[in-house]
Amino acid sequence: MSELAWWQRAVIYQVYPRSFQDENGDGIGDLAGITARLHYLRALGADALWISPVYPSPMVDFGYDVADYCAIAPMFGTLDDFDRLVTHAHELGLKVLLDFVPNHSSDKHPWFTESRSSRDNPKRDWYLWRDPAPDGGPPNNWLSRMGGSAWEWDRLTGQYYYHAFLREQPDLNWRNADVRTAMDCVMRFWLDRGVDGFRVDVLWLLIKDALFRDNPPNPQFKAGEPDHHRQLQTYTEDQPEVHDIVRSMRATLDEYGERVLIGEIYLPVPQLVSYYGPNGDGANMPFNFQLISAPWNATEIARIVSEYDHALPLHAWPNWVLGNHDNPRVASRIGVRQARVAAMLLLTLRGTPTLYYGDEIGMTDGTIPPDRVQDPAELRQPGIGQGRDPERTPMQWDGSPNAGFSSGVPWLPISGGDGINVVDQDSKPSSMLMFYRRLLALRGSEPALVEGAIERVVSSGSVLTYERHLGDHRFFIALNMAGADAQVEVPQGTLVLSTTGCHEGERIEGPSLLLAGDEGIVIRASKPA
Ligand code: GLC
Repeated sequence: MSELAWWQRAVIYQVYPRSFQDENGDGIGDLAGITARLHYLRALGADALWISPVYPSPMVDFGYDVADYCAIAPMFGTLDDFDRLVTHAHELGLKVLLDFVPNHSSDKHPWFTESRSSRDNPKRDWYLWRDPAPDGGPPNNWLSRMGGSAWEWDRLTGQYYYHAFLREQPDLNWRNADVRTAMDCVMRFWLDRGVDGFRVDVLWLLIKDALFRDNPPNPQFKAGEPDHHRQLQTYTEDQPEVHDIVRSMRATLDEYGERVLIGEIYLPVPQLVSYYGPNGDGANMPFNFQLISAPWNATEIARIVSEYDHALPLHAWPNWVLGNHDNPRVASRIGVRQARVAAMLLLTLRGTPTLYYGDEIGMTDGTIPPDRVQDPAELRQPGIGQGRDPERTPMQWDGSPNAGFSSGVPWLPISGGDGINVVDQDSKPSSMLMFYRRLLALRGSEPALVEGAIERVVSSGSVLTYERHLGDHRFFIALNMAGADAQVEVPQGTLVLSTTGCHEGERIEGPSLLLAGDEGIVIRASKPA
């Protein structure tokens, strides 16, 4: 086998813990629930799970407002439950990644309570406090990603503090050395407990302009977009000093052996790839979200795949993401038939794939009645489609009213859908789940699909084709990204997998075949090209 690290070979599965499996009947998923379902992840073919935040939190942003970085929220369980989860996962050969949220804490974190208590408190400088502008208003024009000014007035000490997200999520001051040390201790706390790495929340936002200059207006702003799009984020994101921090996080992880640092970064590719670090000493994988944002057609995807491949620095390992807890589900974005094509794309491209829970059974966005809306992004900026509850509905394990998720009232309604659950699909060869399992098994057994080069990325009409090859092993992938049949040139070989399940195992003579609408195929080419 190759020299690749485990995370280069791995398939990562994101668990949104509130919605995965509830063992104690409070309607909210928990750690014991995740542990109970680890065998499911193993059987699916995942190698690692990333768990969104499970720390104590007022849950204003559902755990992304952390009140204690070194503990587990009672609703999710205890540190013992966490240790059990890690031990059991490791026994099954699964790695465990935690969500690390260093940009901001909860306003209920004791650090912030101290910081806001007086101007001369030793923790004052741990957050971003500024005097009002001469007119008494906010110190500058920076906008929150959840709407309105990013500055909150604090009457007690007569200053404003900065929050890139909710006012309940004050940003930490990463220019302060004590903050860096404290956060380093947090990483070590979890690494010492055996976690295999971190997904770092909003990594590209950690440092803000030292001079607090106004952001310039965004000439491309369109009505209906989120408020902060009114401005270019010139002084609030992707500041040069951030790379120093990424490097030091990575150095800490490296002390623990083969661990992985993944960064949540929404930036154009040229900036994104700079997060690998000039010498490969930055993030192991800056998340690549292009498959979420790209228009879904063969031309665009071919362009994205080629551009990304060319932009990657020599030492950099690619990665791809199809869905997460902040974006509409893939089956709702492009339809359930194309969702299979997307899965085939994700799992045959070069790079580590990250799956979002429930996508493997084709879950769609739920409908959330107005009185059950939970997400602050919807509550505070209603009507512009920023709400993230639809993609966070409970995992559908079976066809019962609560989908086998909970014996209590689920915190979000079940999205449902005929046959969209694990039990039904488990016994059905043509199901999405069985397709995912076969796809993951193929990837797992063919080094060419993991470490092989990607070549000849071409779009022709609605069809995207590319090849993966390693030594004498060559695979040809053809994906029809539209509903009409399409003729496609193919090499001789064996059809090993189709999104429709048809003709698998059959010999392909070439030089062309008719791909059904919404069909994707993998051919094992008989001759190296
Ligand atoms: C990240 C998280 C998102 C959260 C935000 C603030 O983007 O993925 O869910 O609201 O950070 O922490």
